[in-house]
Amino acid sequence: MNATDKLKHLTFVVQHNPNCAKPFLVRLVGPGMPQIDYKPYRKTTDLLGFGSTLEEASTEALANRIQLRAGVKVQEFASTGFKFSLERSGKEVARAFFYIMRNDLHKEPFGLLEDVFVEESFRGKGLGSKLVKEVIEKARECRCYKLIATSRHSRPKVHDLYERLGFQNWGLEFRMNL
Ligand SMILES: CC(C)(COP(=O)(O)OP(=O)(O)OC[C@H]1O[C@@H](n2cnc3c(N)ncnc32)[C@H](O)[C@@H]1OP(=O)(O)O)[C@@H](O)C(=O)NCCC(=O)NCCS
Repeated sequence: MNATDKLKHLTFVVQHNPNCAKPFLVRLVGPGMPQIDYKPYRKTTDLLGFGSTLEEASTEALANRIQLRAGVKVQEFASTGFKFSLERSGKEVARAFFYIMRNDLHKEPFGLLEDVFVEESFRGKGLGSKLVKEVIEKARECRCYKLIATSRHSRPKVHDLYERLGFQNWGLEFRMNL
């Protein structure tokens, strides 16, 4: 069932403004209101979904509803990331991703190092270390209070490399493949 079909069982309003980049607005009844609350976007309790198509707008509005239905308040906030890479002869041969994330435990953000990869024929030449060192520097610049690197149990050489670069073996990583 697509999103517009799911709306049929609910009270909803569609507004269309052809001058907007996302011309469709779907409004669903939000918390604390028995019916659609037509106040302007910033003040309404309606659950809003904007989209370039009706389907897209419906999907967004329904997602807001589901978040509230679960009884848990979900706040979305932007997070940022950087890709670090090295090229040889115009071809990318090494990469590392660095994400900056936040929690309420600390004022400062923390970083996650991910997908450190060097093409096989370029390994053992210091490229991986170079990238990770740059990520560490960037994490310091961004005032991260910690930088996390994960690695599976089966990669002792990677663990050695990370420890040489200054990481401590701190705890276990629990992962769920989705
Ligand atoms: C781990 C990896 C990024 C290291 O990159 P690199 O450019 O070879 O690293 P450096 O040259 O800076 O350092 C070499 C050290 O890395 C370690 N290492 C880990 N795996 C290695 C591998 N498959 N080949 C060579 N070195 C490896 C070794 O300790 C090596 O030290 P040594 O030369 O004293 O044995 C690279 O081997 C790789 O892409 N592996 C596959 C992906 C991976 O495991 N990523 C990390 C976890 S996400």
